Amino acid sequence: MGRLVIVSNRVPDPRERNKPAGGLAVGLADALRGDQSTLWFGWSGRQMEADADPVPSLDTHGTVTYATIPLTPTQHRGYYQRFSNAILWPLCHYRLGLMDYARADWQQYLEVNRMFARVLAPLLKPDDIIWVHDYHLFPLAQALRELGVTAPIGFFLHIPFPPWSLFRALPPATALLDDMKAYDLIGVQTEEDAQNLWECLRVEGMTDPSRVVACPIGIDPVSFSEEARDAFEGPEVRRLRESLHDEPLIIGVDRLDYSKGLEERFHGYEKLLIRYPEHHRHVTYLQVAPVSRGEVEEYRLLRRQLDETIGRINGAFAAYDWTPIRYLTRPIARQTLAGFYRLADVALVTPLRDGMNLVAKEYVAAQNPDNPGALVLSHLAGAAPELDEALLVNPHDSDAIADALHLALTMKKEERRRRWNILNNEIRNTTAGSWARDFLKALNRTRKTGTG
Ligand code: ADP
Ligand code: F6P
Repeated sequence: MGRLVIVSNRVPDPRERNKPAGGLAVGLADALRGDQSTLWFGWSGRQMEADADPVPSLDTHGTVTYATIPLTPTQHRGYYQRFSNAILWPLCHYRLGLMDYARADWQQYLEVNRMFARVLAPLLKPDDIIWVHDYHLFPLAQALRELGVTAPIGFFLHIPFPPWSLFRALPPATALLDDMKAYDLIGVQTEEDAQNLWECLRVEGMTDPSRVVACPIGIDPVSFSEEARDAFEGPEVRRLRESLHDEPLIIGVDRLDYSKGLEERFHGYEKLLIRYPEHHRHVTYLQVAPVSRGEVEEYRLLRRQLDETIGRINGAFAAYDWTPIRYLTRPIARQTLAGFYRLADVALVTPLRDGMNLVAKEYVAAQNPDNPGALVLSHLAGAAPELDEALLVNPHDSDAIADALHLALTMKKEERRRRWNILNNEIRNTTAGSWARDFLKALNRTRKTGTG
């Protein structure tokens, strides 16, 4: 078996106990727990001035060698902050109004992809199979091919992909799609994303629809459930439990990102307090929202707006012995999070759009089978088609969120168990490991048949 080469913008630091918040690093790290020899190449998370291409730092842990490079401040701004996160991110999350295009950013994005290719190519070996991840690196396969790399190259998109009618608003849409044809196989999270992407690639002349596959990412449910059980006995969960005095807890866990629908979600919770006053002084909503992409303007604005909304709701409803919303923007150790999920009676996961949403799957895995909590999930999350026994809501409808929360808080144990058993089967069927195996098997097949 040849070596697997993973390429992603974000690479977890193997020395850090806590992985960075974000589905890509968490999902891939879970998928790599086998014995496959792997090279994981990407950005080190650092910035450094440089006149020439960087030399990668190598760090081997078990079967995985991490090869990471810094970016210059100019590259970081043009490629990461601007083209990836102020142009592609809003566009792929159907937020055309937030897309802030400038041609110089597109050029910087292409240049960084070419630089990634130049630095990676000499590290490659003859039997390698290459797997590139996420929207930061759409043009990477084409850049590698131009350097003579002939290895199989697959791509997986962790975020949604919009229909052609929306994507064509991106000025270099056709150039980007044309570059994507250099991948042997492209995986996306849902059938809807696959249809959208295929429609775009067909416009660009791709002829074989089997080169775009829906392949939803999962978690490692067995180890996550063990982590939750262990953490449940730990000091952090004990302190949280004691602070609740046997009253119900709603939990939300999201990077602080406008795609997560946090503002809309707080309005839904506010509606719950208005329309179902019996929950006053009983229910607590804990929102964990680690700051993400803090240098991007839209994210700074969101943070300010949320501070205001939470302050307003707490100011209007709090009693001297009750705070309706507890809000944390610090990252929390993953194990502690697992314990918090297990303690929570309800998880509130209402993105306006999301590639998958691993938090929903983690919440299910963390539950006590005898007395599981209820999951309120946006029907616009990539996880919704698989987790349709959750209480599905439209995240734009604050009344629907309030009704679903009330239903979840008052749901009988038998009904919670019935729903949870079905959800739990789902997350055990499609795991991080099976996702990676299925995708790589399909990549090998595509390569053998060699269609256009
Ligand atoms: P995204 O990839 O858009 O961030 P996901 O829900 O798919 O969304 O993945 C988020 C991942 O980051 C989950 O595995 C979650 O547990 C983790 N995470 C989110 N918030 C925190 C936090 N405060 N501390 C540690 N991990 C977090
Ligand atoms: O899963 C979507 C994703 O965009 C990943 O590509 C990314 O690593 C993660 O969210 C967190 O974002 P960032 O890497 O910009 O901190």
